[in-house]
Amino acid sequence: MLDAIFGRLTWDSIILVQAVEEPNINTFITASAAAMMPVGGVMIVALLTWMKWWKPLFEWLTSVDHKKIGTMYIIFAVIMLFRGVVEGMLMRANQAVGLNGGFLSSDHFNQLFTTHGTNMIFFVAMPFLFGLINIVVPLQIGARDVAFPRLNQISLGLTAAGGFLFMISLMVGEFSTGGWTGYPSFTGRLVNPGVGPDYYILAIAISGIGSTLTGVNFSVTIYKLRTAGMSFMRMPLFTWTALCTSILLIFAMPPLTACCAMLGLDRFLGFHFLRTTWAGI
Ligand code: HEM
Repeated sequence: MLDAIFGRLTWDSIILVQAVEEPNINTFITASAAAMMPVGGVMIVALLTWMKWWKPLFEWLTSVDHKKIGTMYIIFAVIMLFRGVVEGMLMRANQAVGLNGGFLSSDHFNQLFTTHGTNMIFFVAMPFLFGLINIVVPLQIGARDVAFPRLNQISLGLTAAGGFLFMISLMVGEFSTGGWTGYPSFTGRLVNPGVGPDYYILAIAISGIGSTLTGVNFSVTIYKLRTAGMSFMRMPLFTWTALCTSILLIFAMPPLTACCAMLGLDRFLGFHFLRTTWAGI
C-alpha cells in the first residue's frame, strides 16, 4: 500500500537522512545544500512578513504586465545563477585539489556537472533572455503588451515550476548524471536506474512547454503588434534577434519536450523509443 503511494520515495532518499547514516564529505556537501533550502524558505517568509510585502508579492505574481513578468524572469534567473555558480566552483575546487581524485565522489561530480549545465542553460540563460525580451521588445515595437499576456504569465509559471522541481532534487533523491543534454544511454533505466533522470525529464519537459509558449507569444507579438509604419526592415536589431530566437524556440523546444516524454515512457513503462542501453547489452 505504502509502495503504491510513495513509489521510490523512502526515508533513505532524503538527503539529510543519508548524511546522518553515512557521514562523509560528499553527504556533508549535499546535506548543507539541502539544509539551505528550508532555511532559505523560512528566511524569505520572515522577510516578507516583516516588510509587509505579501500583498505586493501577490500583485506581482498575478500581474500580466510584460515589464513585471520580465523582471520576475530575471530575478528567477539570478537566484538560479547562485546555485549554478556554487556548483561550478565546487567542480573547479575538486579538480584543483588533486589529479588523483578530489574530495567529491565520481557520482557526485557527475551529478554536479549535470545540474550545473541544466541549470545554467534552462534556468539561467533562457529565463534571463526571456526576461530581457519581455521588457524590451514591446517597448521597442510600440506595443502595449505582448500578444497573449495571460499566456506569458503561464509560461513564467511553467518555467518556475520546472525550476522548483529541479531544486527539490537537492533535498530528496539525486539528480541525473547524464549531462545537460540528457543523452539516452546515460539517462536510460539500465545504466541509470535511480530517480535522478526522472527529475531531469520532468523539470525539462515542464519548463520546455513554457519556453515553447514563450516562443509563440513573442513571434506573434513581433509579427502582429508592431506600430504603424514599422516594417521588418525598420525593426530594431534587438527585436530582430528576439524574433529569430522565438522562431528557433518554436522549432527546438517541442522535439525536446517530446523526447523527454519518450525517455520517460522508456524509463517508466519499458518502451523502446530511444537507445537506452550500451552497445552489446
Ligand atoms: C562561475 C562560473 C562558472 C564556473 C566556475 C563553471 C565551471 C564549469 C565546470 C567545472 C564544468 C564541468 C567541466 C567538466 O565536465 O569537467 C562546467 C560545465 C558546463 N558549464 Fe559551466 N561554469 C560557470 C558558468 C557557466 C555559465 C554561465 C554557463 C551557461 C550559461 C555554463 C554552462 C555550462 C555547461 C552547459 C556545461 C556542460 C555540462 C555538462 O557537461 O552536462 N557554465 N562548468
